Amino acid sequence: MKRAAWILLLAIPAAAWCSPAPSLASACTGCHGPEGAGSGIFPRIAGQPEVYLQKELEFFRSGARPSPMMQRVTKALNDADIAALAAYFSKLHPPYTSAAGALSAAQKIRGQQLATVGDWQHGVPGCVRCHGPGLNGVAPQIPALAGQSPQYVVSTLRLFQSMNMHAPHYFPVTIMGRVARGLSDADVQAVTGYIAQLKPGEIPQTSRPPHDAAYKFIAQSPDEFKPPPETAIPGGLDGEEIWRGRLIFEDTQRYARQYTGNTLNCSSCHLDRGRRANSAPMWAAYIAYPEYRSKNHKVNTLEERIQGCFRFSMNGTPPAADSPTMVALVSYFHWLATGLPVGITPKGAGYPKLPSPHTSPSIERGTAVYAANCAMCHGANGEGREARGTQIFPPLWGPHSFNWGAGMEQTSTAAAFIKANMPYGAGETLSDQQAWDVAAFVVSHPRPQDPRFTGSVATTRAKYHRTDSYYGRVVNGKLLGAPANSGE
Ligand code: HEC
Ligand code: HEC
Ligand code: HEC
Ligand code: HEC
Repeated sequence: MKRAAWILLLAIPAAAWCSPAPSLASACTGCHGPEGAGSGIFPRIAGQPEVYLQKELEFFRSGARPSPMMQRVTKALNDADIAALAAYFSKLHPPYTSAAGALSAAQKIRGQQLATVGDWQHGVPGCVRCHGPGLNGVAPQIPALAGQSPQYVVSTLRLFQSMNMHAPHYFPVTIMGRVARGLSDADVQAVTGYIAQLKPGEIPQTSRPPHDAAYKFIAQSPDEFKPPPETAIPGGLDGEEIWRGRLIFEDTQRYARQYTGNTLNCSSCHLDRGRRANSAPMWAAYIAYPEYRSKNHKVNTLEERIQGCFRFSMNGTPPAADSPTMVALVSYFHWLATGLPVGITPKGAGYPKLPSPHTSPSIERGTAVYAANCAMCHGANGEGREARGTQIFPPLWGPHSFNWGAGMEQTSTAAAFIKANMPYGAGETLSDQQAWDVAAFVVSHPRPQDPRFTGSVATTRAKYHRTDSYYGRVVNGKLLGAPANSGE
């Protein structure tokens, strides 16, 4: 081939190589815009995860997702056409087309808050938690919101809100349906406006909210306790330390990575920045220590308890009790507990224990529960999901998960956590039996060695795992906890 021809070939964008028959894609661009950039009522379809596009096209064709326009378009498409179109549009990245409308300062603050931390009192986790840090979607099934037409976002959120939650739905729709119901009309406008003004590649940031000097701490019943809003964080050095602890807790991988040995954050298991009742909240932890623990047969300070989670849950090397990281975390927990009496156990403390299951937990039944309710986010092999180098959904087993010394490896603890908090955004929707079964499935997989390993699986089991643990048991022909089966 002549040199000029080579250069010409190289200059053709990669997407063109795998484009479907042009006549197919040109049937779409009339409405969705050149390269699928979208505008107005026509959604941006460019750059969406391939599997997501494929499923939506199938749903339009079968009528499962009602849309007169799209039903007409998809009627004539066969499976191969749909696959080719999904592959084609998922690889395109045309510029954003929608200009953002005017957004008031208050709307901007509220929109940013919903996008980053959400509003858990109304059941809304931050949009970034599921749609990815830059809201660019998480393959295979969660669509991008960045660059999406605001008109389409508003109308789609309204559709989710009006869904009949008692009717059977495709699982991802149920999840988003629950989230959308927690949004008020004003929230829908604010978050849509906020998303619309994001620039390509921009990542919504969690910023310290402006201080509200008028906030008054009020006495609350410990059983209904709600930690103070972040606008009540005081000024001065105290406030700085509290805010630092808050950042470390939510994004441990960014702010205290040197103490971690896996890809989790403290907030992976203590949801909503350690604020959420029934998710072992940190305000309840703060007033519980010092306390005797049978795990190490001594009275533990709060710092020692935190070190335990670094060593086992984070599979890491804990920071010293007087280290800046520890001081920041304890300052944050102390502030969260403002107004709580010491020495009591509020109702929301820990993970609420589940009654014993009717039939003993079954790994086999748990496999099916997992496939239907968990794999979308945590992956078919429990590996979690990454997007652009960031862990979005944490791993549940394998080399990057919590180790065999962690509390979560006990079936009863995992079942209690899962029942109250998973599927994410839809806690309390599994039956008790389903929670027990899926917990058994999750904790009966290989994971990193117990740091207290004595050199013998049998002795380590006898010393530390006489609970409902799978450590030292044989599952699928593998001795769990054996050095060869530590998930590496
Ligand atoms: C006549 C206009 C029109 C044509 C032509 C059209 N679409 Fe659509 N499409 C729409 C509208 C409107 C929606 C929004 C659906 C709704 O809200 O019910 C949509 C939605 C979609 C969605 C869902 C997007 C999401 O984020 O969930 C996909 C995928 C899609 N179209 C792909 C295509 C493909 C591929 C083609 C070409 C084969 C095509 N469309 C042709 C109007 C059109
Ligand atoms: C618990 C996880 C989760 C959270 C949190 C979440 N979403 Fe979603 N969202 C989903 C899933 C899953 C889908 C795909 C639903 C489907 O397949 O139709 C989705 C779909 C959407 C869609 C439809 C997009 C399209 O192209 O059709 C919009 C709009 C949306 N989400 C907005 C938001 C906003 C705004 C927030 C934050 C306030 C948010 N989501 C928070 C899981 C989540
Ligand atoms: C893999 C999940 C997981 C991760 C990650 C995790 N923890 Fe924990 N944490 C637990 C479990 C399980 C418990 C025990 C809760 C129970 O049984 O009630 C716990 C308990 C605690 C407690 C005591 C709570 C109480 O009420 O007594 C503190 C304090 C704590 N964790 C802090 C942290 C900190 C700080 C981090 C991050 C460095 C962290 N945890 C990361 C799972 C985790
Ligand atoms: C919509 C996505 C989604 C679904 C579905 C989902 N999870 Fe999660 N899960 C998450 C996220 C996100 C976190 C971390 C929480 C955070 O960072 O706020 C998490 C955390 C966890 C954790 C603690 C952290 C860890 O890595 O061990 C466990 C255990 C867990 N999920 C189990 C399950 C089980 C079991 C199911 C199914 C019943 C399930 N999840 C369904 C998104 C999901």
